[in-house]
Amino acid sequence: MTQLENKIVIITGASSGIGHAAAKLFAEEGAKLVVGARRQVELDTLVGEIRASGGQAIALAGDVREEAYAKALVGLAHTEFGGLDVGFNNAGQLGDLGEAPGITLASWQETLETNLTSAFLGAKYQLPAMLERGSGSLIFTSSFVGYTVGMPGMAAYAASKSGMVGLTKVLAAEYGPRGIRANALLPGGTNTEMARAHSNTPEAREFVCGLHALKRIARPEEIAQTALYLASDASSFTTGQAILVDGGVSINRT
Ligand SMILES: NC(=O)c1ccc[n+]([C@@H]2O[C@H](COP(=O)([O-])OP(=O)(O)OC[C@H]3O[C@@H](n4cnc5c(N)ncnc54)[C@H](OP(=O)(O)O)[C@@H]3O)[C@@H](O)[C@H]2O)c1
Repeated sequence: MTQLENKIVIITGASSGIGHAAAKLFAEEGAKLVVGARRQVELDTLVGEIRASGGQAIALAGDVREEAYAKALVGLAHTEFGGLDVGFNNAGQLGDLGEAPGITLASWQETLETNLTSAFLGAKYQLPAMLERGSGSLIFTSSFVGYTVGMPGMAAYAASKSGMVGLTKVLAAEYGPRGIRANALLPGGTNTEMARAHSNTPEAREFVCGLHALKRIARPEEIAQTALYLASDASSFTTGQAILVDGGVSINRT
């Protein structure tokens, strides 16, 4: 028996990085997937690969800042597969970096909308679908940045990501009595498009690796393993938690 046998799962941010790795892993574990992001071609390729391996997936391209998109993803999970068990709300952006006075209001709002408001919108439509089944697991990709570490130049990103932890705790308390769990997944540095954009010189990459106790950043597949745990019934008594999967970046002082 695979770990997500017959579970219906939405994954946002599936066109690359952690979401892409999670989609591949979840499909191998028997999930029926609705995958989202803005880039249609990448989503189509992913769906093609999953189907070629015998998995089940369908894509819907869109922008997680749009309420209609959050609603449409859940609608597709219903029409294609018959309901929803797991919402892996993973899409995110780094946004503009720099000291706070130099960040424009528009840039601040874009990062908050992409990372935090999208999590709220995802939950807003995913929760009623989960209530129909009497169970469910919400997962929000947050970050160590803003939770355990104050990284200079990342005010909007940190605020959005720590806001997701607060959202997680409230949803876990509100919906725990009705069988729905909510957890935040807090990766350390992970080798994705986002990390490569942030650390775009050998010196920057070496610096970021050195921040971690393991002296490296993660492969997206390593983070996907914890998402799998949170999506599956193996985590049936885990809710309201901020789960650090950070290679020790939070405890490291060397
Ligand atoms: N990499 C790290 O070091 C790290 C560390 C901690 C937390 N995280 C978090 O992990 C999550 C995944 O990021 P990643 O590292 O895997 O980077 P990534 O490869 O850049 O993936 C980001 C994903 O989010 C999607 N996305 C961004 N803005 C979107 C929008 N407005 N609407 C819909 N989709 C959108 C992107 O797809 P499209 O461009 O196709 O829309 C892409 O699939 C993010 O929430 C990030 O903050 C990453």
